[in-house]
Parts: sequence; structure tokens; C-alpha cells
Amino acid sequence: MTADILDGKAFALGLRGMVAQQTAQLKARHGLVPGLTVVIVGDDPASQIYVRNKGKVAAEMGFLSDTIRLAEDTSQERLLDVIHGLNNDPAVHGILVQLPVPAQIDEGAVILAIDPNKDVDGLHPINAGRLSSGQNAMVPCTPLGCSMLLADRFGAGGMAGKRAVMVGRSNLVGKPMAQLLLAEHCTVTIAHSRTRDLPVLCAEADILVAAIGRAEMLGGDCIKPGAVVIDVGMNRLELDDGKARLCGDVNFDQAKEIAAAITPVPGGVGPMTIACLMVNTVTAACWAGGIDGAMAN
Ligand code: GUN
Repeated sequence: MTADILDGKAFALGLRGMVAQQTAQLKARHGLVPGLTVVIVGDDPASQIYVRNKGKVAAEMGFLSDTIRLAEDTSQERLLDVIHGLNNDPAVHGILVQLPVPAQIDEGAVILAIDPNKDVDGLHPINAGRLSSGQNAMVPCTPLGCSMLLADRFGAGGMAGKRAVMVGRSNLVGKPMAQLLLAEHCTVTIAHSRTRDLPVLCAEADILVAAIGRAEMLGGDCIKPGAVVIDVGMNRLELDDGKARLCGDVNFDQAKEIAAAITPVPGGVGPMTIACLMVNTVTAACWAGGIDGAMAN
């Protein structure tokens, strides 16, 4: 038997529909238009594509959507000025500074400058602290999307007592994902590049989340029969014929023969991330308006 495919693309479309609907309600009932401003520094081609996509989807939701493009040689002082302006703009509810930023700018200082209530990336230490202490937090978009796919699969309370292994310990994915799994009462292990006997550990996981950034690093020997596998990886694998294909951190063909359910790459976690950015923007707008209508938490 092969695994069920967790269709993030379809789920994300449904979620976007709900966000658009809630946005229309916020306008009609409260005169509130969620505002998202994305800031990009420099001209990294991949970042340009991501940012264009975020702006396009935000406009589709009915948001006030803006993109601020700054030159590659922008100083940290100038970027912080821009962020302070957005912090003080009541029409802007969500601020996202596309990462990475050029070398002359300290990423940590940028994240700290963003008003935590407008931090739709969920990267500010205030939001990390809120999340780990069980308070209402802006949750980083990728782990929020993963947790929605898991909640859909397991149902309310269905993750309690499960063994979860999070492979990867980044502030953007691994650490917040581990907190979300813990909040669902999973027994959580965070593994990383220095973990010994990684396949043995992974093969104990009822829920395996991979965010490593190495093409197909986790093979069939890492999968427990009946596990639910969430693959956050998005890697380019160069093929012998000179072509390339996108793949995850998990060897999909091997894992699908063993797992109960798995996210594909592409079409799994990826589409959820952008949809959750829209969810977070509505949440931020509700917080700003004192409205108890947040979608995510
Ligand atoms: N660059 C790659 N992923 C992300 C993300 O989730 N947020 C931001 N701000 N930059 C990114």
C-alpha cells in the first residue's frame, strides 16, 4: 500500500478562499482592510519571485498590498528607518522583510526593529517567546502551514502522545515547529546535523518533519511504517542528463511505500507557506482592530 498524499496545494487554495472571505467580512463589518507591506533589499532573483508572488496573492485576498524595493547597497540605518515608518503606519498591519538581506545589514537588528504585533513572519524573539510559553503569537508561516496539514490529518487531539521528530533547528522552521508539536502534546525530539544515528531516531517517529535543506537525505530507512511525513525541503537535484528537478529532504519514492501519509514536493508544504502569510496578516489586522476574529489562534 502506498501512502496518502497530503495535498498542500488544494488545502492552501481552500485556506486562501477563507482568508478572502474573512477579509470581505472585516471590511463590511468593521471597515478594516488588512494591510501587508513586503520589503525587499537588493535584486536576488529567487527573492524577487517570492516577493512578487506574496504581493500578488495579498492583492487577491483584498488586502492593501505594498512592496518596497530598496537597492542592494541600502544601509542598515535606512532600512531601519523604513521599518519604523511602517511600525507607525496604522494602515499597515503586517510587515515582512524578505530574507536574506545583503551583508552590510544585520538580520537580527532588522527582525528586532519590527513591531512584534506586525511581525507576520513570527521571527521576533517576542513572538518566539509567546509561542513557547503558550500565549497568542505570530507563528512563522511554514510551521503554521505544516501544523494545519497535521491537524487536518489527525483531527482534534489526535496527535497527543505521538512521537514527533523534527529534523532541523532553524528559528524559521525547526524550533517553532517543535513548539507547535509540543502544544499538540506530542513527545518531541529536535534532531540536526550533529545528531548521532539519525535514521534510527527518525524511524521511531510517528510524525516526522524534515527541514534540512539537503536533497533526499532521509531515505526509507528513516521512516517508521505508518508514519506521517511532512517534507519542508525544496531542493534542486541535478540529474545526469544535465536537467534538474525539484525534490524534498525525504526520498519520496522510498518513503511513500512505508509511510501512511506524506507531503509531496512540490505541492505540499510550499503552497501552505504563502497562504499562512495571508492568515497571519488577517490575524495582525484583527489584533490591531481589537477584533476577536483571528483565524489561526
Ligand atoms: N526567505 C525565505 N523564506 C522566507 C520567509 O519565510 N520569510 C522571509 N522574510 N524571508 C524568507
